[in-house]
Amino acid sequence: MTHTCVGIVGAGPAGLVLAHLLKEQGVESVVLERQTRSYVEKRVRAGLLEHGTVALLEQHGLAERLRARGQVHRGVELRFAGRRHRIPYGELYGGRHMVVYAQQDLVADLIRLWVERGGEIQFAAEDVSLHGFDRERPEIRYTRAGREQRLTCDFVAGCDGYHGVSRGSIPTGALRVYDHRLPFAWVGVLAQVAPSTEEIIYAHHPRGFAGHMLRSQTVSRFYLQTEPDDPIESWPDARIWEELQGRLAVDDGWRLREGPVLEKNVTDMRSFVVEPMQFGRLFLAGDAAHIVPPTGAKGLNLAVADARVLAEALLGRVRASDSRGLDAYSATCLRRVWRVQEFSSWMSWLIHRIPDATPDAELRRRMQRAQLEYLCASPAAGASFAENYVGLENL
Ligand code: APR
Repeated sequence: MTHTCVGIVGAGPAGLVLAHLLKEQGVESVVLERQTRSYVEKRVRAGLLEHGTVALLEQHGLAERLRARGQVHRGVELRFAGRRHRIPYGELYGGRHMVVYAQQDLVADLIRLWVERGGEIQFAAEDVSLHGFDRERPEIRYTRAGREQRLTCDFVAGCDGYHGVSRGSIPTGALRVYDHRLPFAWVGVLAQVAPSTEEIIYAHHPRGFAGHMLRSQTVSRFYLQTEPDDPIESWPDARIWEELQGRLAVDDGWRLREGPVLEKNVTDMRSFVVEPMQFGRLFLAGDAAHIVPPTGAKGLNLAVADARVLAEALLGRVRASDSRGLDAYSATCLRRVWRVQEFSSWMSWLIHRIPDATPDAELRRRMQRAQLEYLCASPAAGASFAENYVGLENL
């Protein structure tokens, strides 16, 4: 049986950033990760970092490789009715920028730096279960290499994502669950092809939304709107490229580069939040507590924002016996979570084809078009979009 101050379940962005911020102030933690190191360092996820996320990572010496290899972005392109409309969010939001950098590369950086700085991380930790977190001495049990292990801790951080064990360990009646499925889903595609643009494209099209995201100079990420629960088998590569070419087309002859598809899957879109994000000495952070529609690329950034709040609160308690931060943890995080949920939902309805089954679909489509035109014509609308997309501060 070993003891640590903070037991962290999950080595994703939330868990790893939390571990680093605590260690920097001399507070020890142990990270328990179900998967192997090589698995988590290859798992394709998000890839767009808000200005505030990059600033936090830089402030704590975690952004060296990100700065060397990430791509700075200051604008995004909306396409509809065969036309391009660039929103220069950098100019519209005080010169702030975003960085395109694959989440798995960030996770790999955080793990490498954690180990280099003497941090403890247990990969392949199976059958994790949480105990006693409603009392003074939480205990995390798990098996590793077939042997049962026990870790006692003063606090537990549930950073184990939507499918993790932490949220489910909280007594059912203690949580309010908000769960809304949007009537859209995305075919996510990773292809071995250089990007065909300098900036991210969101294309609104009668056949459905298409997104040209970027990841590196040799690999690109694409999304295509489809029906929820649509099996990936109905998306052979040829159909993927045909739909991307059609939906991304503009009237100036631009064409999308094609290449071998490396990965493809269908993901549904949901807005999911649990309140509160804490129970006794267990604190949920990141996807363990909330899921946002991927449209605004907010999931990773929200996870890091939760980790920052939780680190500050734990440090206050451990180093100054000041529990105010921990007592207010959920309320502090949820202000940003609900703001981001609203923006991500708004953006999803702005750029996706409104399904025929939607009440007043044609009327909604006319208002959607008016909203797109207004967003592209009005500096005030552009500025509001910019501060939400690049990341609101002081929330
Ligand atoms: N025990 C230990 N580890 C677990 C368990 C478990 N029972 N369940 C899940 N995990 C691990 C997962 O393997 C993963 O590495 O917890 C980690 C959770 O990481 P993420 O899912 O990345 O969650 P988070 O850190 O909140 O980051 C959110 O990741 O899922 C994307 O789109 C999401 O970009 C967002 C970001």
